[in-house]
Amino acid sequence: MDLSTLREEYARGGLDVPDLAADPTAMFERWLGEAIAAGLHEPNAMVVATSTPDGTPSSRMVLLKGFDADGFVFFTNQASRKGEEIAANPRCALLFPWHPLERQVRVDGRAEALAQERVEAYFASRPRGARIGAWASHQSRPVASRAELAASYAKVQERFADAEEVPVPPEWGGYLVVPEAVEFWQGRPGRMHDRLVYSRDGEGWAVERLAP
Ligand SMILES: Cc1cc2nc3c(=O)[nH]c(=O)nc-3n(C[C@H](O)[C@H](O)[C@H](O)COP(=O)(O)O)c2cc1C
Repeated sequence: MDLSTLREEYARGGLDVPDLAADPTAMFERWLGEAIAAGLHEPNAMVVATSTPDGTPSSRMVLLKGFDADGFVFFTNQASRKGEEIAANPRCALLFPWHPLERQVRVDGRAEALAQERVEAYFASRPRGARIGAWASHQSRPVASRAELAASYAKVQERFADAEEVPVPPEWGGYLVVPEAVEFWQGRPGRMHDRLVYSRDGEGWAVERLAP
């Protein structure tokens, strides 16, 4: 397969310091709003990169479920590979790949486990099937077969058959990624892309342009 001819010229827009919002949260809100308005598929899907303390990296998609000035929130199984890596090394990175807008947003930060009340409130909002699935799947661990998974799901369904509420599984939780730096990237012609990065500077944020 020849991939050498697969290339796009980016020309949808530009990004300069005067275009930026006062802080990365407001800027992210603007760009996420534009990604939603443009009809992007799963605009809140992001890559979360974690690593072991000795520096072995791993990455996967998760769904952003909230953000504010404190940071970016996602939910997962805390006993998963990502959960174990975060427990040992909270440094992580997020990436929003908004290809149709020729944009990406990168976040470098630290993950903190969310308070149980917040986890419970979100878990309760999930469809019942997803709540059952969270009990049935010990995320990231080997499973012998699809049949084993199905049997586990059926067992959990039976266990909670008479329960109106499905409680939060002990392994399940969520993280707040507190940003240290947030980069807004806009593709430009001739690979002269715009990269503007907010970095923490005392109580506020400093902005720097990086070479593409
Ligand atoms: C679009 C998309 C969204 C996903 N959202 C989540 C999520 O919010 N939480 C989650 O635990 N896994 C989510 N997954 C599955 C993860 O990518 C991954 O397979 C799983 O979390 C196990 O990762 P780990 O073994 O590295 O911990 C999503 C996958 C895709 C493709």
